[in-house]
Amino acid sequence: MLLVRPPGVYRAQEDTSLLRHVLRRRGRLSGRSVLDVGSGTGALGIEAFRAGATSLTAIDLSLRSVMASWLNSRIHGISATVRRGDLFAPVAARRFDLVLANPPYVPGVGPLPSRHRAARCWDAGPDGRALLNRICSGVSSVLNEDGALLLVQSTLADEQATLDRLAEAGLVTEVLARAHIPFGPVLRTRVPELRARGLLGPDQTEEELVVIEACHG
Ligand SMILES: C[S@@+](CC[C@H](N)C(=O)[O-])C[C@H]1O[C@@H](n2cnc3c(N)ncnc32)[C@H](O)[C@@H]1O
Repeated sequence: MLLVRPPGVYRAQEDTSLLRHVLRRRGRLSGRSVLDVGSGTGALGIEAFRAGATSLTAIDLSLRSVMASWLNSRIHGISATVRRGDLFAPVAARRFDLVLANPPYVPGVGPLPSRHRAARCWDAGPDGRALLNRICSGVSSVLNEDGALLLVQSTLADEQATLDRLAEAGLVTEVLARAHIPFGPVLRTRVPELRARGLLGPDQTEEELVVIEACHG
């Protein structure tokens, strides 16, 4: 997929690909409205459109990502609504058939998510859950009655906590895909600290990605 990516915008990677793969396999998007939250280049929303979605809204906190999502949607012939803002805040009064999320989920080495622009694409607090927890508690308010969330994360950021929190929010969950991938450049720099904290095993060289679906049931 052709994607323009200005500096500081997340390059579509294995997590993006895994969620795109699930989207293609899942189908059933004809006539559906889609929200791509934390859109980056906009790759996920564009894939949803290719799968038949008829309306696309993309949100990102980063201005460069907003610009990239807008430009890429136009390049692919999609008239998407693109908003800059924090998670669901720009669409608080709306509901969607499908919400796509590939949020920052890498456990950080400091106490808070980094303020560095690029690191905001992946840093998510000490346990990697700063954004995941907010998505779990907030997503049901932007889902239609028969809507669904598709979310990708690393199991390093506690897959079970996501499943539990989504259930607490009244949603029924299912794991749709898993993939083992070698550590990327960010994780490689954090191996000693994450091992010391017990988040990585002594010989572990791969992390596991998981795609979770959640709906009202
Ligand atoms: C891992 S990247 C995923 C980008 C794209 N969806 C993909 O799959 O390639 C996470 C994105 O979330 C955005 N982001 C981080 N915090 C956010 C927030 N509070 N609200 C909205 N977007 C946020 C980042 O700017 C980044 O573009």
